[in-house]
Amino acid sequence: MAAAHVFFVAIVCSSAVYISNATRCGHGGPEVQSPFHLINKQPCHDALGSGYAMKCAEGNSTTVISFPSYGYLMVKSIDYETKRIDLIDPKSCIHEVFLGLDLANTPFQHFYLLKNYTYLNCSSSPSSPVDQVLQSYDEIPCMSGADHKVYTVDVSIEVPSNCRAIKTVAIPFGYSPYISDNTFGLALTWDSPPCDGCNKEIADHHRHHQVLGWSIVLLCVCLATAGLAAVKMYASYVKKQGDNNAKENEKLLN
Ligand SMILES: *[C@@H]1O[C@H](CO)[C@@H](O)[C@H](O)[C@H]1NC(C)=O
Ligand SMILES: *[C@@H]1O[C@H](CO)[C@@H](O)[C@H](O)[C@H]1NC(C)=O
Ligand SMILES: *[C@@H]1O[C@H](CO)[C@@H](O)[C@H](O)[C@H]1NC(C)=O
Repeated sequence: MAAAHVFFVAIVCSSAVYISNATRCGHGGPEVQSPFHLINKQPCHDALGSGYAMKCAEGNSTTVISFPSYGYLMVKSIDYETKRIDLIDPKSCIHEVFLGLDLANTPFQHFYLLKNYTYLNCSSSPSSPVDQVLQSYDEIPCMSGADHKVYTVDVSIEVPSNCRAIKTVAIPFGYSPYISDNTFGLALTWDSPPCDGCNKEIADHHRHHQVLGWSIVLLCVCLATAGLAAVKMYASYVKKQGDNNAKENEKLLN
């Protein structure tokens, strides 16, 4: 009886945990709440606009967000207090993200102050010396190849003859081998959506789940307590019976 009871409590409790985790893709993943939502897991997708949509990657528990101008980036963390979201490029090439990502028409802006840099694409061969102007820069390894090197340079430099200016982009930092750490991601901040009714709907949904989660936890505690009390009562009943039997035996013996 006790085993069945413990089993039942375990089942109920794990479903409570499941409900309270419904807004994450996996253990340790960022909590997804308003204004963001997980596609297929939270309501009200369309009213907020697709810019706030996230989803769980197929096959693992990574949270990802899609940008039409770039593709998917992984969501490392979301801080709702400071409105900061940290993204990681699955290809570990943050300067390629800086070059390709267009945040216009998205709810996002860079979190850090920006400075304009020009991306240069320079043809290179092992024999040709590096241009004087480029000697103080390092090429971006993940964007360079055997016959070309890509750099982020100050906008004011004179473009060497073997280089083509790809684009000038306002980015938080130019390439440096010292901050090329793959975990050094993209920090963005967001504008709140204008849709308050929808926020309320999401908040209600969230609260509903929380209330349900806590009710089940409370039920667990009640059941566990009742179960324990029943086991205790049964034990004392058995003990009492035992004592009575002993008394009876004593009587018989005397
Ligand atoms: C999860 O899957 C995506 C592609 O589906 C991949 O890019 C990413 O590296 C994977 N993450 C982990 C932690 O395995
Ligand atoms: C970058 O250059 C553009 C075009 O000249 C300018 O409009 C923009 O304000 C500059 N951004 C920064 C952060 O200096
Ligand atoms: C740089 O140039 C090379 C060769 O001309 C080309 O293959 C490569 O895609 C270019 N890279 C960028 C980022 O424009």
